[in-house]
Amino acid sequence: MKDRFGREISYLRISVTQRCNLNCVYCGKTDCAKKAAELPPESYYKIAKAFAECGIKKIRVTGGEPLVRRDVCEIVRLLRSIPQIETLALTTNGVYLKQTAKELKAAGLDSVNISLDSTDGSTYRHMTGADVLEKVLAGIDEAEHVGLSPIKINAVLMKGVNSDGAGQLIDLARERKIDVRFIELMPFSNEGEDRSRIVTGDEILRRFPFLKPVASEDGTATCYSAEGFRGRVGLISPVSHKFCSACNRVRLLCDGRVKPCLGYDAAYDVTPFLNDEETLRKEIEKIIMKKPAGHSFGSQSAAHGLNQTGG
Ligand code: 5AD
Repeated sequence: MKDRFGREISYLRISVTQRCNLNCVYCGKTDCAKKAAELPPESYYKIAKAFAECGIKKIRVTGGEPLVRRDVCEIVRLLRSIPQIETLALTTNGVYLKQTAKELKAAGLDSVNISLDSTDGSTYRHMTGADVLEKVLAGIDEAEHVGLSPIKINAVLMKGVNSDGAGQLIDLARERKIDVRFIELMPFSNEGEDRSRIVTGDEILRRFPFLKPVASEDGTATCYSAEGFRGRVGLISPVSHKFCSACNRVRLLCDGRVKPCLGYDAAYDVTPFLNDEETLRKEIEKIIMKKPAGHSFGSQSAAHGLNQTGG
């Protein structure tokens, strides 16, 4: 369906947990002790089904870290059974991907995005708080091996932290059929607030002038490639080049609240309507109509950390 601003809302991101096994500097993970309720797989299924009736065609499972949920494959299997859903994807930090990729694929998952900010072990540990780079790299190999496709790497560059390693990340797209996407630092944490650390998409293009634009079906990323590359480089610039006017997404938080925009606090509980399909659909339509014209990152930081929304 179309929202108030004529945007066709077709993409639902479902955060299935706030928990995460990493502690990334830019994420804004807050009070982990105060654990948000997580719904059972069937509840996400019911809500997603109602969304599908409102025109959702693509679902991404996120977190927190979705693979910390033992029933994540069951969630994927149920979401896959919704006929309108053309694309089912998942975003993970990759730590548990090696042991889960095969079952995820069998459950009907199409593709994965894996967060990887550095290919250098100590930089990786500094940014995430965990010494698990090798596990993530093995997870990427396994995702490729079981046929999850496309495989995309998400990297957030920060000046003075991991920005010098951008070339090594780009090499992944040179050598493998993997898209590497640089996501501009958004203001979700103290580090995120520090605008001087942002590396904009334009700066990346200046540093790597061999990157040439290529056509992209990706809504948020502008894509680049170069001679001999097997994959592509994507630039996602939510701060320096807002893409709100083309935003097609809504978010479901793990506790059953629907969040119309990443940049605002507002989230609406739909769990009271779980057992009434018709009312659930109508409530969802109302919430989609509340989606604001654009985010507010320029003037204020977002209230929910990325551990709640999954990006
Ligand atoms: N700015 C930009 N991207 C972020 N991510 C997490 N926090 C931020 C932030 N402050 C990214 C993660 C993950 C994706 C879901 O969001 O790297 O890949």
